[in-house]
Amino acid sequence: MNLKIALLAGDGIGPEVIDQAVKVCNAIATRFDHHIEWKPALTGAAAIDAVGEPYPDETHEICVSSDAVLFGAIGHPRFDNDPSAKVRPEQGLLKMRKKLGLFANVRPTFTFPSLIDKSPLRRERIEGTDLVFLRELTGGIYFGQRGRKDNGETAFDTCTYTRAEVVRIAKKGFEIAMKRSKKLCCVDKANVLETSRLWRETFQRMEKDYPEVEVSYEFVDAVAMRLVQWPNAYDVLVTMNLFGDILTDEASVISGSMGLMPSASVGESIGLYEPIHGSYPQAAGKNIANPLATVLSAAMMFEDLNLDEEAQAIREVVNQSLSEGIVTEDLADGNKSYKTSEVGDWLAKNI
Ligand code: IPM
Ligand code: MG
Repeated sequence: MNLKIALLAGDGIGPEVIDQAVKVCNAIATRFDHHIEWKPALTGAAAIDAVGEPYPDETHEICVSSDAVLFGAIGHPRFDNDPSAKVRPEQGLLKMRKKLGLFANVRPTFTFPSLIDKSPLRRERIEGTDLVFLRELTGGIYFGQRGRKDNGETAFDTCTYTRAEVVRIAKKGFEIAMKRSKKLCCVDKANVLETSRLWRETFQRMEKDYPEVEVSYEFVDAVAMRLVQWPNAYDVLVTMNLFGDILTDEASVISGSMGLMPSASVGESIGLYEPIHGSYPQAAGKNIANPLATVLSAAMMFEDLNLDEEAQAIREVVNQSLSEGIVTEDLADGNKSYKTSEVGDWLAKNI
């Protein structure tokens, strides 16, 4: 198969972890007889520096003419501490999600048997966790009207959802649930927020189209608590943009490291695959970042391209590297650790 993949390395550790995913994908291409044409493009602070824009039109053109987008990370401390910055790297990510129609963000949370004791949570609570968050990605408070009034003394961000936006993410949630254990949790704040009441009402109406799916409705604050107490109680959790942002960071604690969690953003046409971690500027350029979240994101990409064996081969080699201790320092626990590039080389060699 000929694949054209847009490669958006972005900022911080982005380029380093993306390099390892490319090595792994190229090894997959060799083993399974594919040809991958990589299309590098600028995004984030790197794009702001080069062309003054975090998601340039040129990058968008490359994305839409590709089969998938593999993405590193976005963000730079130079902008974080400057609330007055007019152009910010994160705007590039949001613009890209919107322009590519990526309304659904799939974030699986699972544990690795060899790493179970890395989690700050007790083994008996988290063992066997296998859940997936479906986060709405192009609506809600991230994209509502925002601004200042009263001479800058009052600020506002608004959360808006249309019925159609809720229906399409709910549909995706029900479909995922049908392929898994047929259990879905709608996470909202319907005791306070009108948008949440629209969500709940919409899910309730759609339940009859999926009679096999057992649906529960829970408030986001309660889920935040139960998620780390009884993660095994959940399978598919569907929620709005901001709640999903927060809960998926929390969920990454279950697996023991944020450096392990992949994600897929899908929607109208092509998908974008990225680690859930950020640009981790403190580690940039040091060759110490954990590349596994990005490598596992590439596995999700192959899966969405209907190349299941390829995806499985990546997951297997990742498991093998973990159990053989070929890991970066975040997972080494005082034992020998490997550089980002060494982990990538090992994975590629063992594919
Ligand atoms: C994420 C990130 C982004 C988000 C930031 C970088 C804008 O935290 O993908 O979870 O909030 O969506
Ligand atoms: Mg986040």
